[in-house]
Amino acid sequence: MADITTDVLIIGTGPAGSATAALLSTYGVENMVINRYRWLANTPRAHITNQRAMEVLRDLGRAVEDEVYLYGTDQDLMGENVFCTSLAGEEIGRMRSWGKHPLSRAEHLLSSPTHMNDCPQTYMEPVLFKTACSRGTQARMSTEYLRHEQDADGVTTTCLDRLTGKEITIRSKYFVGADGGNSKVAEYAGLEFEGKMGVGGSMNILFKADLSKYVAHRPSVLYWVLQPGSNVGGIGMGLVRMIRPWNEWLIVWGYDINGPEPEVDEAFAKKVARDLVGDPDLDVEITSVSTWTVNNMYATTLSNGRVFCMGDAIHRHPPSNGLGSNTSIQDAFNLAWKLAMVVRGQAGTRLLDSYQVERAPIAKQIVTRANKSIEEFGPIFKGLGLLDSIDPVKMQQNMDARCDDTADAEAQRTAIREAIAYKVYEFDAHGVEMNQRYRSEAIVTDGQAEPAFEKDAELHYQPTTWPGARLPHVWVFGPNGEKVSTLDLAGHGRFSLLTGIGGKGWNEAARAVGEELGIEISVQTIGPRQQWEDYAGDWARARETRDSGAVLVRPDHHVAWRSETIPDKPVDELRRVLTSILDR
Ligand code: FDA
Repeated sequence: MADITTDVLIIGTGPAGSATAALLSTYGVENMVINRYRWLANTPRAHITNQRAMEVLRDLGRAVEDEVYLYGTDQDLMGENVFCTSLAGEEIGRMRSWGKHPLSRAEHLLSSPTHMNDCPQTYMEPVLFKTACSRGTQARMSTEYLRHEQDADGVTTTCLDRLTGKEITIRSKYFVGADGGNSKVAEYAGLEFEGKMGVGGSMNILFKADLSKYVAHRPSVLYWVLQPGSNVGGIGMGLVRMIRPWNEWLIVWGYDINGPEPEVDEAFAKKVARDLVGDPDLDVEITSVSTWTVNNMYATTLSNGRVFCMGDAIHRHPPSNGLGSNTSIQDAFNLAWKLAMVVRGQAGTRLLDSYQVERAPIAKQIVTRANKSIEEFGPIFKGLGLLDSIDPVKMQQNMDARCDDTADAEAQRTAIREAIAYKVYEFDAHGVEMNQRYRSEAIVTDGQAEPAFEKDAELHYQPTTWPGARLPHVWVFGPNGEKVSTLDLAGHGRFSLLTGIGGKGWNEAARAVGEELGIEISVQTIGPRQQWEDYAGDWARARETRDSGAVLVRPDHHVAWRSETIPDKPVDELRRVLTSILDR
């Protein structure tokens, strides 16, 4: 007999675990989340919060979304990505990032009702955790997961209560391992992985110093400093990363993973900070120092029976592209509604299989992209002549040569410019963030071919209602002129049908099939004198169906199915699709 019972037990209160708990509680599913520590993240870690993650927060409620904007640094202060010899020294080049370029910003504005921002994990986690607990999640801190066993009916988990030193058992129907990059759950569940851990070493130095005079005129979250000879035998690239503008900072400084882990004392940390800023007298307060490893590993199996893993537990990669916590929150959005429907008996367990089918390719994609982004610094080093010598004096001369009035120097300048511009794949890869398309049994395409990407799929988001893709965002207008995103019409833990004039039959179909299956299907009609007006014709252009057709959207905003026009028997069609998706 277990000490405690719950429907879903979640290990970890990071972005993945807290988001899962918040979503499950919002959907009305009993859940418990545990964390081995007494509180949430104590260092900022992830910052970049992309539009897709913000859409999940918006789905949790406008107040939740707004709280993240309140704490996050605004997108306008994020994007002048600088390459320099020190913050006080010479600027080598700049890349407008994170939607700063006007063309990129236009794509952001057209893609989502939300906007990117820079919210440190120390602020994001409390928002998610508070949302979860205030909506019903039972949270148990200072509780460490030790092991679990599953049988036909559920999972029994043994934890250590770190306050009493005693073991406790928790019985749950389902079990979520959101316990980070060293996941014990993934290990005990026997998940399979590809790739390698520990391919590089880095240290984080957190400090407080007012750097306004060096940065406020070129606001950015990232300042890349190239100082030949400033570390032993290396290029000497350090990153000065904004935490709060412009007086809290994080330095990322590499170390040789093949050597011993460096001991970083306060004097060393201050020296690195002053060197990278380029001000030997800088008034600097070191607040924390830690080391971490660069990983290149993703799971190929994400679940085992009633046990599901998510977040860093299944994708382990460097911070490049800022995908870590974003993808973790999106994993949660994919799994939570499926768990809710299965726990409530509205879906068969086969629906849960689609979690792995849909999210494993994303885990692989983001780990690969983040590691490739590190390699793509190579051409910048090459362009600056930093790879041609290990002598710091010669390296500096090579860098200086780019300013000469010679054909070679002009070629060098071109190479540097192009190499910096190529970093768009790390710093403005809107397609990586937004183009996720699922292929699984929880999607019904009826054989419709996937539309090919017309532009680079890593850089540009391409909206489509092809089943599996995320529902395109456009603004539509309510009876009082209120502006609402199509994404707002969907989500919220239920299926939605978006239709137009001539689609009245979908109302009856949604009512009949919803009643039969015991689920809520909301119908939203868009068109002249309908529930929602499409004055600018944006939905008519985006929907890829006729007026009487319909787009069926899953609770996680992904299109489940679409119909070009209303069929003769819409009830039969909707029943066919939903019984297939829900394994009924
Ligand atoms: P996360 O690691 O956040 O949370 C795991 C949770 O599980 C924690 O609450 C932990 O206490 C708990 N836990 C672990 N084992 C347990 C056990 N046995 N029992 C109970 N609880 C247990 N990403 C990014 O996008 N940009 C960035 O700049 C950075 N920078 C960065 C710096 C540092 C130092 C780190 C460590 C990480 C980053 N990251 C990052 C990565 C980012 O922080 C990461 O992708 C997300 O936190 C992943 O969220 P998860 O919820 O999956 O795991």
